[in-house]
Amino acid sequence: SKTDVLMTAPMMPIVIEALDEAFNLHRLWEHEDREQYLSEIGPRIRGVATSTLYGRMDAALFERLPNLEIVSSFGVGYDNVDVTEAAGRSIIVTNTPDVLNDEVADLTLGLLLATLRKIPQADRYLREGRWLEAPFPLSPTLRQRKIGIVGLGRIGKAIAKRLEGFDVSIAYHGRTRQEGVAYAYHPTLVGLAEACDVLVVITPGGASTKHLVNADVLKALGPNGVLINVARGSVVDERALIEALRSRTILTAGLDVYEDEPRVPQELIEMEQVVLLPHIASGSVHTRNAMGQLVADNLIAWFEGRGPLTPVSETPWNGLTKS
Ligand code: GLV
Ligand code: GLV
Repeated sequence: SKTDVLMTAPMMPIVIEALDEAFNLHRLWEHEDREQYLSEIGPRIRGVATSTLYGRMDAALFERLPNLEIVSSFGVGYDNVDVTEAAGRSIIVTNTPDVLNDEVADLTLGLLLATLRKIPQADRYLREGRWLEAPFPLSPTLRQRKIGIVGLGRIGKAIAKRLEGFDVSIAYHGRTRQEGVAYAYHPTLVGLAEACDVLVVITPGGASTKHLVNADVLKALGPNGVLINVARGSVVDERALIEALRSRTILTAGLDVYEDEPRVPQELIEMEQVVLLPHIASGSVHTRNAMGQLVADNLIAWFEGRGPLTPVSETPWNGLTKS
């Protein structure tokens, strides 16, 4: 009989179809009494399909799934999964890297331009009929800005490559200087912020990057400064950001992510100068389907004995079998 797999929240039809075909798929979100349902099916479950955009996979849930072998998570970020807890239980964790790099990089450039050139505000202005009264106010520019990328991983590099087409300079901060990268490296984030007037945040979330962008970093970025966050809300101290925007410590911000999604602080919503997106950086049909397919393919490959395709670095995988 087919292997039992639990899906924690609804995903794209392509994922559900692929999983339904290969496995005995259980839909957790369809059950009102989740605890009751888990005590019924929990012991049979060997794989989980989950998403970084939904709830957490933690010790309490692992406890209910004693025969779990693999968690296949939708998204490149996997701060939704307690990987330490998973590793302790020899549970493999996979994510969906790479298939979204270009999409996220495209959106980042769009958000940066929208924020500086005030594209959403201009659209609102026209729709409100205000163009009939006066031309739209002139905007700041991207030209000749100094862009600091926080986290020069694969997506960060795809952003930098696009920025090379503009008249800007590029620098970066990360844990280590990267060989063969021509952009200026800053060992501290405050140092990068001092040298730049745009910060693009694209570092992983989780405890190690929590509130990395704090009041000191924003102060160093300065009154002409622009903060773009397409990483995780947790990387930016949101209270400090609101204060920095209010006091004009920085110029403006473009955000795709927030500390308590989908709730966004009312203070931000009321600020005319900021551009706010609802966590859509990877959100094209094409890319979400590719990510979903990879969620399914990781589970299929594992249960066919071919190993996980894209295990996260913390996972107990020695290349042959579960360690
Ligand atoms: C789709 O599969 C999603 O998690 O948004
Ligand atoms: C989205 O935020 C992702 O991690 O893929």
